[in-house]
Amino acid sequence: MEARQLLPINRYEEQIVEAVGKNRVVVVIGETGSGKTTQLAQILHRAGYTKDGIIGVTQPRRVAAVSVARRVAWEMGGPLGEEVGYSIRFEDRTSRATRIKYLTDGCLLRECLFDYEFKQYSVIILDEAHERSLNTDILLGLLKRVAQNRNPELKVIITSATLDGQKFSDYFYRCPVINVPGKLYPVQLLYSTEVPYSYLESAVETAIDVHVREPEGDILVFLTGQDEIEKALRMLEEKVLMLEEGSCLDVIVLPLHASLAPEVQARVFQAAPPNCRRIIVATNVAETSLTVDGVVYVIDPGFVKQRNYNPTTGMDSLSVVRISRVQATQRAGRAGRTRPGKCYRLYPISAYEEEFLPATVPEIQRSSLTGAVLHLKFLDLPNLDILHFDFIDPPLRESLEDALYQLLAIDAIGQDGKITGLGKHIAELPLEPALGRTLLAAEDLGCLSQALTVVAMLSSETIFMQGSRKGDDRKRSREDQQLPDGNKYGDHVQYLQIFELWKKNNFDIKWCRSNGLQIRSMLFAKDVRRQLALILTRKNFEDDDRATKKISTARSLRKALCQGFACRLAQRMPKHNGYHTVGNKSQLVQLHPATSPLLVDEDGLYPEWVLYHELMASTRPFLRHVCVVEKDWVVPILEKLQNINVRSLSGLSAHELQKDQALGEDNKVVLLKPSDQETRLVD
Ligand code: CDP
Ligand code: MG
Repeated sequence: MEARQLLPINRYEEQIVEAVGKNRVVVVIGETGSGKTTQLAQILHRAGYTKDGIIGVTQPRRVAAVSVARRVAWEMGGPLGEEVGYSIRFEDRTSRATRIKYLTDGCLLRECLFDYEFKQYSVIILDEAHERSLNTDILLGLLKRVAQNRNPELKVIITSATLDGQKFSDYFYRCPVINVPGKLYPVQLLYSTEVPYSYLESAVETAIDVHVREPEGDILVFLTGQDEIEKALRMLEEKVLMLEEGSCLDVIVLPLHASLAPEVQARVFQAAPPNCRRIIVATNVAETSLTVDGVVYVIDPGFVKQRNYNPTTGMDSLSVVRISRVQATQRAGRAGRTRPGKCYRLYPISAYEEEFLPATVPEIQRSSLTGAVLHLKFLDLPNLDILHFDFIDPPLRESLEDALYQLLAIDAIGQDGKITGLGKHIAELPLEPALGRTLLAAEDLGCLSQALTVVAMLSSETIFMQGSRKGDDRKRSREDQQLPDGNKYGDHVQYLQIFELWKKNNFDIKWCRSNGLQIRSMLFAKDVRRQLALILTRKNFEDDDRATKKISTARSLRKALCQGFACRLAQRMPKHNGYHTVGNKSQLVQLHPATSPLLVDEDGLYPEWVLYHELMASTRPFLRHVCVVEKDWVVPILEKLQNINVRSLSGLSAHELQKDQALGEDNKVVLLKPSDQETRLVD
């Protein structure tokens, strides 16, 4: 309680309540850890804003939504899910009693499909807006409209940690900005003289070095993902054992990343026992989303794992990239919350100055926009067409075109650019459009139950334990052989078979373990499947098992997938097992080494046509999750794709298009040049 009263934001309670009372939109800026996420909603709750509606607080990350809701429920002295709850995709912990609801920005966006004025809310707090997630950017645009017009008033609060405040304020017609000056102690920046050979090893060594030499205070190490974190933990634990006993403080080493079980995660928020130092090895979640108290030393290798979508090639990459200077500043700031701290930057100052981007590229400029565009098409609000949507930073023209093309290919929109009946159903499902389309096709083909299973399995992270699958032969376990091979039709059918086998084994956890399957992922898939089935039942689709013959079911399933993934087809090269993707920009690609075994003909060649879930760029581009499809299904799709004219899809009149041309370079959404109009297929 005492600590909470000391949080900077609580000293601004009156000012905040007054500003929110007088304005529909307010921007609140404060250092991370100043209490925006946990306190703002409580302040407005005390001010009476939960009498006629609820307070929604969005988070770009699932892990933050859950963790913060738990914390706030505890602060308010009630169980989670009552007065304070959370809602994330596939998991809803709210009830009638809920007044403060933490939810991912994606969840709020979906809610608005059914209630575009956000009627249940009296206040919406768009938290961590500086992260500029795709969903937050779209919500900004939607809320801008609603906040202006809604009666009774909807209060919108945008919070941001960095200096983006003015930008948000300008976007919202110069709404007031409240600055909550956080008490940040000076942080000494220490740069490496050169780029380390391995930043992971360098981070571990630096952590041990700091531990041995520096007075007490926790160490926060930023790495890029779960695998790396686990590796670092093992290395740290080994090294700690080698330290002379009594020569320094005790150590607790803790991970912090999105896939931790909640109990494990909670440990990070408990202070270290006396005479003990914590070393917390975290992903980017610790940069702004989650504040860990007690940190005095930060170790920043300067990397982050980032997803990038290239709309021209349709290629996704999940790669480790340099952070931006804004991010580096954020990370350093984490060291100065309780007293002066130190930040060890494992890169030279010249790299920081010359190679780092000044700010992170917003997600809207590096993601596939298919889902987002379908969403906006669904809302069909006046003057809300895609090209004129009031984005805070406009997406690339190529991304919009790519999205329109994909939507047309799966019949979610028509040639006139309007959403179809099918498109509406797809938009309502909490899935990427390709998967939504697959489910609807499966319902027609009588294999909805099977498709649900596959979609659920694909929504889960990694199904196989590391090294338990082909592609890593050395570690391949013998039990692995018991798993079915998808009749050699690829990963999707294999997923279906695995799930069905698990079901036959009464969803036994031990069965998963002995077959090299990730238990958490399998349980997650089971739960997702249940939830999706529920949503579909509500929409009067039935999760029944009309198709009884096993083989024909798998065939129907593949056919349904082919409808959903019409834009993600690949054809094998004539004489070798490379594939090339079909579409405006064909690529030569390989199957991912972990693909389940495929049929081969007498020449050792794979099937001619496959569909893929992802096209990933790494050292070479490869297809992840492939499914064999038949030529007969592909031909009509290719014909359709050939006739797509992206230009007509934005649904604009000729007059409007002309107006567009005048928009020029600052607005990135400009008209296509005539030569770009044709969408060519590479044969
Ligand atoms: O959002 P902002 O960065 O301004 O701060 P916050 O997340 O509201 O954090 C305020 C305080 O609550 C910090 O001291 C956190 O360490 C603490 N907190 C916590 O102990 N457990 C959580 N799950 C979340 C926050
Ligand atoms: Mg926060």
